[in-house]
Amino acid sequence: AEDGYDLWLRYRLLAPEQAGLYRGHLSQLVAGSGTPTQAVTRGELQRGLAGLLGHEMPLSDTVTRDGAIIVGTPKSSALIEHLSLNTQDLGNEGYLIRNVVVNGHTATVIAGREDIGAMYGAFHFLRLLQTGQPLDHLDLRESPHVKLRLLNHWDYLNGQVERGYAGTSIWDWWKLPDWRAPRYTDYARANASIGINGTVLNNVNAGATILTPEYLQKVAALADVFRPYGIRVYLSIRFSAPVEIGGLKTADLLDPQVQAWWRAKADEIYKRIPDFGGFLVKANSEGQPGPEDYHRTHAEGANMLADALAPHGGVVMWRAFVYSQANPDDRAKQAYTEFKPLDGRFRANVLVQVKNGPVDFQPREPFHPLFGAMPKTPLMMEFEITKEYLGFATHLVYLGPLYEEVLSADTMAHGKGSTVAKVIDGSLDDHTLTGMAGVANIGTDRNWCGSDFNQANWYVFGRLAWNPSLSSRAIAEEWVRMTFTNNEAFVKPVVDMMMGSREAAVDYMTPLGLLHLMGPGHHYGPAPWDASESRADWRPVYYHRADHQGIGFDRSRAGSDAVDQYAPLLAVQFNDVKQTPEQFLLYFHHVPWDYRMRSGNTLWYELVAHYTRGADDVKRMLETWRHLDGYIDKERYNQVATFLAIQEKEAQWWRDACIAYFQSISGLPLPPGYVPPQ
Ligand code: GCU
Repeated sequence: AEDGYDLWLRYRLLAPEQAGLYRGHLSQLVAGSGTPTQAVTRGELQRGLAGLLGHEMPLSDTVTRDGAIIVGTPKSSALIEHLSLNTQDLGNEGYLIRNVVVNGHTATVIAGREDIGAMYGAFHFLRLLQTGQPLDHLDLRESPHVKLRLLNHWDYLNGQVERGYAGTSIWDWWKLPDWRAPRYTDYARANASIGINGTVLNNVNAGATILTPEYLQKVAALADVFRPYGIRVYLSIRFSAPVEIGGLKTADLLDPQVQAWWRAKADEIYKRIPDFGGFLVKANSEGQPGPEDYHRTHAEGANMLADALAPHGGVVMWRAFVYSQANPDDRAKQAYTEFKPLDGRFRANVLVQVKNGPVDFQPREPFHPLFGAMPKTPLMMEFEITKEYLGFATHLVYLGPLYEEVLSADTMAHGKGSTVAKVIDGSLDDHTLTGMAGVANIGTDRNWCGSDFNQANWYVFGRLAWNPSLSSRAIAEEWVRMTFTNNEAFVKPVVDMMMGSREAAVDYMTPLGLLHLMGPGHHYGPAPWDASESRADWRPVYYHRADHQGIGFDRSRAGSDAVDQYAPLLAVQFNDVKQTPEQFLLYFHHVPWDYRMRSGNTLWYELVAHYTRGADDVKRMLETWRHLDGYIDKERYNQVATFLAIQEKEAQWWRDACIAYFQSISGLPLPPGYVPPQ
């Protein structure tokens, strides 16, 4: 039965016409197994090729016939060394794949400078087969554009996953370190196949327990499983750990005992895990402790930890997701206000990790104004893969277009072309320490992600972390082919459906720059009227500000002036209601209901039109899927169909609830011809 466990690494038998394409190309495998990474690389190729071709691939020490596949590095393979390939500038993780002639025979070589590069190359080679690409004239060179490509698990040690919709945590802390579940290896394979090279195991709302010796043993066991796949472990730490588990009276970073405690803790960790990655820190945000408790800055806090990790090569990823309830002004401004003045004050092994938008992982937000504004500090992107504000597991929302929209946004920091992608890959301000993090959507569900289509969001995150300039459509197509089928009659409509799905969600949830209209606490379903949250800045009304005159949050110069956190040319644009892109209209402006939109509609009619269109789009998605019955297995087909039916129902719920609520405030009639729900 197909339960989605294999993700995009299914390796099912190729269709005969496709297998025909590869005849003569795949005759023998020349690959070493002298190191753990070489062994897993060879194992993956054997497994993948056997599955795709339906027979075992013979191993050979050398090339004896046409169609050999040679895998390795100049150090590990004399054959590769003799080919005198240019592997020098591939870096530690890069690879090349080329057709060559060896001993008079045609062959394909997959080579890295290091084992890890060759492993990434092997996964790429398998992907070529999985997606039906020809193997002639191969001349590929790839290396990652971003150094740290990390998942962030928001997993508590009790198994709960914060904002997790796919079961409980896959880390079985009770049975670790002795029991290393096979799933950990499959997790590592999946991540390695898309280039992810690190994982933060625990929630940013961290307790101190993970740093106790008992738990560090367990962390070390996971690190051992992941190491051959080039994946390092990182931990979220609690700033007050020296008090909670260290018995100290304070966690103030200026206290020498506190500094010594962190240094000793770092030493202890590295003794167990020599390639430990470092710490992720949420401090002075949503109740977490931090340096500001002692009137020290975020930079001072980060630097103290950075100094403890530096001798071992570790990094600190310090989150910029801060906002306080004491701030009556505008939550969207606070991270910039606090962090921008700290530019240049962080140690070299600190990255500041910034959410893609200034508020919180909404279906659409403008890019975060810190991107481009801290040239002296490596800024790390934080995307959310889990769909906290996007319908959890059942709504089909492919996040590729969201990620791509943010990465391709132009910060104008150094004039036109200063994209967020260039901030993240370090090219804009010459940083070599670079990173991208994705809040994982992984849990114990058989299909890992709560739905088959949510797997695509894990996939696209990894591919974009490798290269932030890739197209989300091309990635969607790869994923569909690997996950379902190469049948064009299936691939085209499904990719189109995925590509439209995020805009549909924006339309039926929060169109025209609205955000945070979701139910309180859980963030599921519409509740633009809700006022039950204790904090004003958690209430939907704080964000939409609808009244009898109009709707939207005035962030222009006349309002909170958040616009001036952007580069001058953008600030001018966003400050002017006429020049603001309509998709951000109500994010930057409070606009009268009868405001004329570019379409000629009034804002009120346009809002109704967006909600209607979003719900209609989901109806069409379900129709598209209904036409695809028979192309894939029943199990996955049926679950997707059922989930789409849920989404259809809930998109209508969103539409009707929001139109009714906003109408109760605008007091305006529905557009002519609009048929209210029965
Ligand atoms: C959101 C989310 C929280 C999370 C926080 C964070 O607010 O709802 O669950 O802890 O982001 O990113 O720290």
